[in-house]
Amino acid sequence: MTDPYVPERTSVTIDYAALPDDFLWGTATSAYQIEGAVAEDGRAPSIWDTFSHTPGKTAGGDHGDVACDHYHRWREDIALMRQLGVNAYRLSIAWPRVVPGGDGTVNPKGLAFYDELIDGLLEAGITPSVTLYHWDLPQALQDRGGWPERDTALAFADYASVVAERLGDRVSHWATLNEPLCSAWIGHLEGKMAPGWTDLTAAVRASYHLLLGHGLAARAIRAAAPDAQVGIVNNLSTIHAASDRPEDLAAARRMDGHTNRWWLDPVHGRGFPEDMREVYGVELPEQAGDSAAIAAPLDWLGLNYYFPQTVADDPEGPAPYARAVRREGVPRTGMDWEIDASGIETLLLRLTHDYGARRLYVTENGSAFPDVVRPDGTIDDPERQDYLLRHLAACASAARRGAPLAGYFAWSLLDNFEWAYGYEKRFGLVHVDYATQQRTIKGTGHRYAEVVRSHRSRA
Ligand code: NOJ
Repeated sequence: MTDPYVPERTSVTIDYAALPDDFLWGTATSAYQIEGAVAEDGRAPSIWDTFSHTPGKTAGGDHGDVACDHYHRWREDIALMRQLGVNAYRLSIAWPRVVPGGDGTVNPKGLAFYDELIDGLLEAGITPSVTLYHWDLPQALQDRGGWPERDTALAFADYASVVAERLGDRVSHWATLNEPLCSAWIGHLEGKMAPGWTDLTAAVRASYHLLLGHGLAARAIRAAAPDAQVGIVNNLSTIHAASDRPEDLAAARRMDGHTNRWWLDPVHGRGFPEDMREVYGVELPEQAGDSAAIAAPLDWLGLNYYFPQTVADDPEGPAPYARAVRREGVPRTGMDWEIDASGIETLLLRLTHDYGARRLYVTENGSAFPDVVRPDGTIDDPERQDYLLRHLAACASAARRGAPLAGYFAWSLLDNFEWAYGYEKRFGLVHVDYATQQRTIKGTGHRYAEVVRSHRSRA
């Protein structure tokens, strides 16, 4: 059981004046987590269909077969966004809908779905921010080796080009990858996400080809849509050492390399961190020209922030030989993740000062709590509201201190398929009753709408 965290209803002051007038206030989702319709209109299976249908891999055997049925209900979901008053929406494209075999034949019906969705968003005055890869690799590519193989990076660039050619006249915000750390480390090293491997060599190779795929895709997007604003979305974390012992300090440095620097340094032309190459001890599948491709110029950086980490030395454990230490007496979400809003500010400032970010978006931030639907059907969720407001205040503070923050996307528009945790963990601003697919805006959704209105009335 997690500690029940009940915040006091304190009011948090958000420095709205620190945020630009054209700030993007959005919500975020991803294809496999909400769309359902997994076998419709030519979509082929992804690694998440395979993984979630493998016994024992997800809580309760949950899978995304129906999810929020967004594939059929997207008009209703756009109407919800209008009710929230947001002006942006971060979505992901399902690669196995658009190029079901991973490479080769394009599925016109898959593209048509996103085409209509984008038009619907634009008609509603909502700016789309499109992520090309949010973990749903076509199974056909996995069968040929998946991300540990170079061909997957090449196929990703081809797929990116197909999508950008079709949508690039209306979409200007593009992200190549979502949280490659999770694809590489959780998918190939920890085995808790698709494809479920526990193999350091495969994980390191996957990380390399994900970043190569990112760079090649960035180039392909720009070739197809010259005005595209291209970025990458990383989940970064603030890392604290469990003690001042030199071993723990070194472990914290390794965890920082594993979580943050490995993903940031190469795309900024600094190469893969030397200390981490040594820690992994795995030869990278480098070829001439790769470093430059990986360091393709970026228009923006996306930060997904959820929680800080405290680590201690763990010489017997898996790379990076740093074990998470649970701090007692600290507020936590329903995911058992520690709550520390200052982390988002620290990371936005780090991206600004250490990496010279020219534009930043918080592409995800949010919290799961066990929501209670009241007899009158409303959902009050004070813990989630508190989390949201504190993190927004920290974002505004970072902006005040010089971070070029241009938007914030709350995770998530809807309760949805929380990967290995299934449907039990609810991150939505909007509650979903999975039996009826009824959507109900939670207290936090109403509160977010107020925040957006307050900023607008200032602007
Ligand atoms: C990050 C991932 O991008 C998203 O898919 C996930 O649901 C949230 N974190 C919450 O865990």
